[in-house]
Amino acid sequence: MHGKVVVITGATSGIGQVAAEQLAGRGARIVQVARDKSRGEAAVARLRARAPGAAHRVHYADLSRMADTKRVAAEIASAEPRIDVLINNAGALFSTRRVTEDGLELTFALNHMAYFLLTHGLHERVSAGAPARVINTASSSHRRGRLDFDDLQSARDYRGLAAYGLSKLCNILFTRELARRCAGTGVTANSLHPGFVATRFGDQSGGLLSYGVRLAKLFGLSSEKGAETLVYLASSPEVATISGGYFYKCQLARPTREAQDDAAARRLWSETERLAGLGS
Ligand SMILES: NC(=O)c1ccc[n+]([C@@H]2O[C@H](COP(=O)([O-])OP(=O)(O)OC[C@H]3O[C@@H](n4cnc5c(N)ncnc54)[C@H](OP(=O)(O)O)[C@@H]3O)[C@@H](O)[C@H]2O)c1
Repeated sequence: MHGKVVVITGATSGIGQVAAEQLAGRGARIVQVARDKSRGEAAVARLRARAPGAAHRVHYADLSRMADTKRVAAEIASAEPRIDVLINNAGALFSTRRVTEDGLELTFALNHMAYFLLTHGLHERVSAGAPARVINTASSSHRRGRLDFDDLQSARDYRGLAAYGLSKLCNILFTRELARRCAGTGVTANSLHPGFVATRFGDQSGGLLSYGVRLAKLFGLSSEKGAETLVYLASSPEVATISGGYFYKCQLARPTREAQDDAAARRLWSETERLAGLGS
């Protein structure tokens, strides 16, 4: 990874933090997006301690806000002439329905819209880095997601796990459509399930959900184990030309039938563009 530039979200904690540190340890320069200044600075300090040879950077944005995500993408694009690996990883689970200033349901906004907007905003820089990779952290929880184009904001019947499942289904469909659009350009796109990992995930979900996730995490994998597939997809020559895949335990896996629906993936892309105010 020497000389490679890796842009990553959600690297102040959990799976993203370990992946960023390991990739830095292999020589990559890490450019991260964090929402909190003290956590961002602490994360960069850890990277500098681990791999002092590269000029690691942090940019700040609340990725649940579209204006912030577009701004940070423009900021990174002006600072980085080329990006070798873009890792969309920041995500969360919320027990009650909340609506962002953009009128989007919070889980959908953070877990799906931010992946799309950051990738859109950095697309030219990733293309300039080709052969380059886009990696999207999804989840086996996509199995709980139902894609209803008439209710993408889960307004009818909000359940935290179902909204989370929908957002993770969107991650896989987005990855497939991105891979289709990037075919032949040298840019690959893959998604992954990290396993059930004992990170800070769920701690801020609220209600019974936080309690349930905390209990389940007693049996969770370590963040080191959880980061393995992410690091593999970012760095292994074995997957240099694989695109559109969904990985688990460093191997291609089969997501649900709904997650392999390419017509739905195309429709989700146009719907997301419309919600993001981006003309096609
Ligand atoms: N843990 C699991 O079992 C599991 C299983 C399947 C998939 N995943 C997926 O793995 C990814 C990483 O999760 P994790 O388990 O590592 O959780 P985590 O420890 O809670 O880390 C989440 C990361 O996302 C960042 N983040 C959250 N909201 C943000 C916002 N509004 N703007 C910018 N950054 C924000 C957090 O920043 P702060 O440090 O400021 O909070 C943190 O860096 C997520 O996409 C999750 O859906 C996790």
